[in-house]
Amino acid sequence: MNGAIGEVLIAWYEANRRDLPWRDTRDPYLIWISEIILQQTRVAQGLDYYHRFTGRFPDVSTLAAADEDEVLKYWQGLGYYSRARNLHATAREIVQRFGGKFPATFDEVRSLKGVGDYTAAAICSFAYRQPHATVDGNVYRVLARLFGVDAPIDSGEGKRCFAALARECMVERFPDLYNQAMMEFGALQCLPRSPACDRCPLQERCVAFATRRVECLPVKKGKPTVKPRYFNYLHVNSNGVTLLAKRAARDIWQNLYEFPLLETDRPVEFDELCLDPRFRALLDGVTLVSVRERVPPKRHVLTHRVIHARFYELELSAFSPTARAYLQVPDREVEEYAVSRLIQYYLEERESPSLF
Ligand code: ADE
Ligand code: SF4
Repeated sequence: MNGAIGEVLIAWYEANRRDLPWRDTRDPYLIWISEIILQQTRVAQGLDYYHRFTGRFPDVSTLAAADEDEVLKYWQGLGYYSRARNLHATAREIVQRFGGKFPATFDEVRSLKGVGDYTAAAICSFAYRQPHATVDGNVYRVLARLFGVDAPIDSGEGKRCFAALARECMVERFPDLYNQAMMEFGALQCLPRSPACDRCPLQERCVAFATRRVECLPVKKGKPTVKPRYFNYLHVNSNGVTLLAKRAARDIWQNLYEFPLLETDRPVEFDELCLDPRFRALLDGVTLVSVRERVPPKRHVLTHRVIHARFYELELSAFSPTARAYLQVPDREVEEYAVSRLIQYYLEERESPSLF
């Protein structure tokens, strides 16, 4: 059943494939060079480099005999220059370990510097027609959609799952065509955005299409995005009484206590803070006796976020109506309230005036 998918892909490939020079050869050296170039470079840009590089260094021994400076010169402009240095060093390794003949088993190929699972499978399938499935970003996408897999592509479970599916779909008699077809299908047909589902030969078998999940597959966990937050705390005091508030649910420090907080979407100086309507409401009709920034701006790092906190100690003549909505706590009782580590830090620093 899954084998049939491979057959359909190969038929599609024969009709739609791009003509690319490394597809006309079974020379493992040329295939290796092309795959290293294409690791971080688009086909359109890679073509010129491939022609020039393989023109000057047509085989392992020519590359091994060359000067590193010249190899780098041929790579100039492609970026990720460690690729060129690795190619050069590996060519010399092939001369030493294998007498200049490109290794022909998966394990030997995989043992070469700069050659990972993907590149080893590409070389062994394209050059030697060994049934190793290539699994790259395009293949993840095609398989995730065809089989409706929502395991993240950047998780161990996802990687195992996609590797297994790629093997199951493998057309044993034509591993080279199968791999090229799968990757070309991802590159031209099953595109990241707006794939051409309406003219797709696999539409009837595509789980994502049937369940309307094409746009949400594949899933990537990614790094949690660290969104900075800017906390401006007002340690408001009047006649020996401090204002506190209990933090609401569904945010960090749930149910802990803190001073009146003005969160802003960017760093804000005190002058600007004074213009904030929340600040003005807090001081409405009362006199600001004194203000002092107590702790220098400090970056507070939590697991998934960065908090930039500033503390201002304000002495007021009295509490405004807005201020009276807060908890009014005698100064010496403040420490009885459960507070975040950040507020605790502030309170401790405040106790040791030598630091200011
Ligand atoms: N990207 C990586 N390998 C490729 C190949 N062999 N053909 C086209 N694009 C590719
Ligand atoms: Fe990809 Fe759409 Fe075809 Fe499914 S139907 S394999 S999502 S192009």
